[in-house]
Amino acid sequence: MRALEVTTFGTPDVLRLLDRPDPEPRSGAVRVRMHATVVNPVDSWIRRGTMAHRTPNLSFPFTLGFDIAGTVLDDAHGFTAGQRVIGLYPWLVEGTGKGANAEIVHADPRWLAPLPPSLEWAVAATVPLNSLTARQSLDLLGGAAGETVLVTGASGAVGSFAAQLAAAEGAKVVAVASADDEAYVSALGVQHVLPRDEPRRLVEAVRKIAPNGVDRAFDAALVGAPLLGAVRDGGGFLSAVEAVAPASERGITVTGVHAKPNTTQLTDLVRRVAAGELTTRIADVLPIEHGAEAHRRLEAGGLRGKLVLTY
Ligand SMILES: NC(=O)c1ccc[n+]([C@@H]2O[C@H](COP(=O)([O-])OP(=O)(O)OC[C@H]3O[C@@H](n4cnc5c(N)ncnc54)[C@H](OP(=O)(O)O)[C@@H]3O)[C@@H](O)[C@H]2O)c1
Repeated sequence: MRALEVTTFGTPDVLRLLDRPDPEPRSGAVRVRMHATVVNPVDSWIRRGTMAHRTPNLSFPFTLGFDIAGTVLDDAHGFTAGQRVIGLYPWLVEGTGKGANAEIVHADPRWLAPLPPSLEWAVAATVPLNSLTARQSLDLLGGAAGETVLVTGASGAVGSFAAQLAAAEGAKVVAVASADDEAYVSALGVQHVLPRDEPRRLVEAVRKIAPNGVDRAFDAALVGAPLLGAVRDGGGFLSAVEAVAPASERGITVTGVHAKPNTTQLTDLVRRVAAGELTTRIADVLPIEHGAEAHRRLEAGGLRGKLVLTY
């Protein structure tokens, strides 16, 4: 099989597509022949070495990849050969560096969910990490229908899932999006779309809509501490990256998220994507040979949707 390997920490040039022996069937695991995966911001941070402290046992070369979309190879653990699945590979928790950027992966059955037949591989690959992060973030934030929820980065993958899920649950969503993405975000069921702005002006704009502050904020764009000014006293604030979550003020509950595999949640989320109830966006689809190019394009910014790698 081919695997896109990180040979040392550094720029996208450290990525190499190499031939490796096919992994053998293994007790406790489901072998998945991959069809598509996504390049996520965290892949770029790991490749650069920014997250090395999280995986002390990692050695070179290693393989990135959080999103599984593929076909089961053997009858095992309730899955059948040929079955279409998606899954979240908990790369940082596993710490072994044998992620989904390879043609065959060993997956714990608890990471996987059946994939509805109508969904294309590329679309399916955009679902696991992003939608589970959004789902679990909203669950951590709590709150009730009718509350006001601010979502930054709402034109991004995680933010747009969060905006859609919160709106579907009856929240009044105030979404922050880049200027040329307002039309896309408006169509996600949100009540207000605010243009991305420097934090002080953004907080002022939010306070015009919610004078006492929003009940909860999901900060997918990592605006951080200045955004707390948009949240009411005693409200909730969740950062998409726990390590940069600000200190609490005015009784606001501040937390972060670590997305975890969850078959029940993923089965529901992908069913809703397949039914057209949830929207996800693809910027481009590239063959795995172009993995380094995908990393470069991700880091250049300005993408509208996810970069998908196919096998
Ligand atoms: N904790 C976890 O388990 C977990 C899991 C998945 C993702 N994450 C994190 O969640 C974040 C979002 O990930 P993603 O995959 O959704 O990334 P993404 O698709 O690149 O989306 C990020 C979005 O935020 C926008 N943005 C950036 N800075 C902004 C600002 N100051 N104000 C408003 N919008 C801004 C970007 O707009 P432009 O494109 O115009 O710059 C983009 O639309 C990342 O930091 C990622 O690492 C965490």
